[in-house]
Amino acid sequence: MTVDQVEFDGPIAASMSEFSPEYMTYVESHLEEDLEEVPERILTLLRSMESLKQGFVIDQLQHSLQTATRAERGGADIDMVVASLCHDIGKTLSNANHPAIAAEMIRPWVSPDAYWVVKVHQDFQGLHYYARMGLDPMMRRKHEAHPAYELAARFADEWDQTAFDPDYDTLPLEHFEPMVREVFSRKPRRGNS
Ligand SMILES: [Fe+2]
Repeated sequence: MTVDQVEFDGPIAASMSEFSPEYMTYVESHLEEDLEEVPERILTLLRSMESLKQGFVIDQLQHSLQTATRAERGGADIDMVVASLCHDIGKTLSNANHPAIAAEMIRPWVSPDAYWVVKVHQDFQGLHYYARMGLDPMMRRKHEAHPAYELAARFADEWDQTAFDPDYDTLPLEHFEPMVREVFSRKPRRGNS
């Protein structure tokens, strides 16, 4: 938006430290007006993962779709299906800290458990390959006291680590679109959970 398009009836300073209380109130009332575009932004990000191969037989969009398909067929709720679909979106920026990126991106719209599963999913995935890298495969043990521990284990063991099969009957993105639109159209949750 350019200055010309702002409908604020008063002086607009060029730096935040000089914004008037009236202008701050005006800005705050507009901060969330384009949230309706979030579902489309998430879908665009997911589609872009088609170009992420990372040496695997299937690309990262297919891996995400297959993880979500397995979650849905395993009886996961809508938050967990959408979280499964989005669990690796952080890889569009950085592989090293992708769980934290993805978890924070979906945090305001999904359940605290679904957020947490995405956040720690690498620690649980380690069971399946950390030993080959000289790392502790039971990194998940540090999360034992968390109420969603079993859900995170199920996500990693049954839905994520198995989702590299080119012959699996994976559902297309179109199947998950209504769920993505429903979850990311919710009023964003604030707070630390
Ligand atoms: Fe994954």
